[in-house]
Amino acid sequence: CGIVGYIGKRDAAPLLLEGLQRLEYRGYDSAGVAVSGKSGALKTVKAKGRVRDLESRLPKRFAGTTGIAHTRWATHGAPSDDNAHPHMDPDGVVAVVHNGIIDNAPELRAKLTADGVEFASETDTEVLTHLIARSEADSLEARVREALARVEGTYGIAVLHASFPDRIVVARNGSPVVLGIGENEMFVASDVAALVRHTRQVVTLDDGEMATLKAGEYRTYTTEGSRTSGSPTTIEGEAADPGAWDIGGHEHYMHKEICEQPDAVDRVLRGRIDDRFATVHLGGLGIDAREARGVRRVKILGCGSAFHAGQIGAQLIEELARIPADAEPASEFRYRNPVVDPDTLYIAVSQSGETYDTLAAVQELKRKGACVLGVVNVVGSAIAREADGGMYVHAGPEVCVVSTKCFTNTAVAFALLALHLGRVRDLSVADGKRIIAGLRRLPAQIAEILSAEEEIKKLAHSYADARSMMFVGRVRGYPVAREASLKLKEVSYVHAEAYPASELKHGPLALIEPDVPSVAIVPDDELLEKNRATLEEIKARHGRILAVAHAPQEAADDTIVVPHNEPELDPVLLGIPLQLLAYHAALALGRDIDKPRNLAKSVTVE
Ligand code: G6P
Repeated sequence: CGIVGYIGKRDAAPLLLEGLQRLEYRGYDSAGVAVSGKSGALKTVKAKGRVRDLESRLPKRFAGTTGIAHTRWATHGAPSDDNAHPHMDPDGVVAVVHNGIIDNAPELRAKLTADGVEFASETDTEVLTHLIARSEADSLEARVREALARVEGTYGIAVLHASFPDRIVVARNGSPVVLGIGENEMFVASDVAALVRHTRQVVTLDDGEMATLKAGEYRTYTTEGSRTSGSPTTIEGEAADPGAWDIGGHEHYMHKEICEQPDAVDRVLRGRIDDRFATVHLGGLGIDAREARGVRRVKILGCGSAFHAGQIGAQLIEELARIPADAEPASEFRYRNPVVDPDTLYIAVSQSGETYDTLAAVQELKRKGACVLGVVNVVGSAIAREADGGMYVHAGPEVCVVSTKCFTNTAVAFALLALHLGRVRDLSVADGKRIIAGLRRLPAQIAEILSAEEEIKKLAHSYADARSMMFVGRVRGYPVAREASLKLKEVSYVHAEAYPASELKHGPLALIEPDVPSVAIVPDDELLEKNRATLEEIKARHGRILAVAHAPQEAADDTIVVPHNEPELDPVLLGIPLQLLAYHAALALGRDIDKPRNLAKSVTVE
């Protein structure tokens, strides 16, 4: 979900709505806004659906120079006007926007109901509203603190109160809250996306921290009330450029982000390659050569596309550094009481750096004394701050809910890490040079693949009416198949499954029929013949085949030919045409490409 708030001299509503648009990728089930007018009285408007639906409901007169707003990804309570935030008490005195989940909301709701409180929504958040409204403490800060002391769970909140019209009080525990420091005006948001147009000076709250924002000042303190430093930092890098967040000449962010990949890959490589020693410099890694040599295993954790990029990463680390490595969904790892081994290097992967499941896995690992690195896109995000070190993937702002350029850059970042780990171990100078040359070829090769968009578009149209699709690949090709299958599912809603090619005959072959086509990843490597045998198995069952390969495949109905790099790096390229395939299939089916139904880009709840 997205939170945005403003206090200053300007009219709040337009600023809040613009902020919500920027945060809409965090959830788009419903949206709402509350402002406090001159007298302090609060006004609120909420709407099921998108920010534009909210905008159309806003009355002409909705003046106020202080306000908070929210865009929701539903957890408790279906998307509806009532369940949209901000939540207010019946007297209209308190307005709250909230990200996260209040775990003990049912008990608190029961107690409040027994005390005669009437609830207007099914949300967990409304509990907080009533707790704050019923508090009689002297200050708004104390009232919020009192309410928070009674709740268990995660939150990022912003609170307006009619009796304290000169301030917004915010708090963080598990859900991001960033203050934007302006000139006689202050902003707050759950993500810098909503802030960069107004200020680059930001304060990222830590868990257990609160803040009071007034037009000309702010202060931060703990939930116990002791002051914290709250010194601002400056947003830097790609995210600091407001233009990087714009759609440019593209119809969709997904298309823009696919097309940006040659530049994005160039950025992740920039300044990191050391030709003299055929290795790379990773300044922020935080482990020296000796420690890197001591690593006995690597465990990579992430969710969704980040997990798949981690699977590519695990293979690269095994191949180049010969360290046993594997990837696991962070969401599974954290719930299974994992055995944490001191010689294992743990790596958390996340575009946003805020995915709660991944963050919780990092926190659990750190509690157990493990060394955890982050491979993250958003600079200064929670996972980046929590990890012992790591690397930024420098993909730049990714706005489309489904990941494309960040996935690719993460895979390339892992190639750099694997090369680094390899070169402090047994990878030869010659192999180091070979991989470096391969890395340098990637941007131009990606551009070459993208130049075949028209042909891929035609293929997408001819496959878009499939009842279901099977994605298969072996070893290096398997994570590529998984990510391509996820991409198609997420954005086009066509059902797709990914299987290791070798496993097809052990079950899913039963599904193959003419309207269930297969996409096969067929790199020209030591497994080429095995993969060709899989194509024959599918063909023999009258399954249609689209191959992604380094040369046309006879058994396939269609082949997308991609340029060859080094075998270890080929997975980075093999997935690129399938991003375009998913995009054009979704376009042909009339889907909401940048905001697929039911999803959100950054899931900050468990
Ligand atoms: C959500 C998104 C996915 C994304 C995953 C991990 O589920 O819908 O597209 O891959 O979160 O996000 P992260 O920011 O941690 O990479």
